[in-house]
Amino acid sequence: MIEVERILRVDHAGEFAAINIYRSQLYIARHLYKDIVPKLEEMLSHEQQHFDTFDRILQSRDIRHCYALSFWAFGGATLGFLTALAGRNAIWVCTDSIESTVLHHLEWQLDFLEKHDQEVHDAVFSIKADEQEHQEFGRSQGSNSLIYKPIFWVVEKSTEFAIWLSTKL
Ligand SMILES: [Fe+2]
Ligand SMILES: [Fe+2]
Repeated sequence: MIEVERILRVDHAGEFAAINIYRSQLYIARHLYKDIVPKLEEMLSHEQQHFDTFDRILQSRDIRHCYALSFWAFGGATLGFLTALAGRNAIWVCTDSIESTVLHHLEWQLDFLEKHDQEVHDAVFSIKADEQEHQEFGRSQGSNSLIYKPIFWVVEKSTEFAIWLSTKL
């Protein structure tokens, strides 16, 4: 089904972007904020597992990945670098913002998949718990200070835009 393929492609691309965000944040954190390296590594390993889950399903069903995959890698890496350079709080505000947007999206997908594709539903469901944990951790470590609102907003809009564009490509 076209809609299921679209969901798989978007999620696959999103996890690929997430991997690149954490990789570049880790690169900076290893120099500037060593104490958060283990947590970022843990989150990166989750995203790697998520990516593998979608990659496996795409391959087993002979579905192509998103055309813009390398663009998402670049976008993710850029976002990761910029937020990490903006400070340790910005890293967590970024996580909170992305995962809030993503979770909203996963909710919609699960509703749809429940009726149309059990295998993909279960895959998305298994990932949701990790993303929720990431969001909660991001929120607890980030900052409510007003200066971070623009970062939250920009990341949220970029994520929404990326999700929207991935459904087209
Ligand atoms: Fe993920
Ligand atoms: Fe995540």
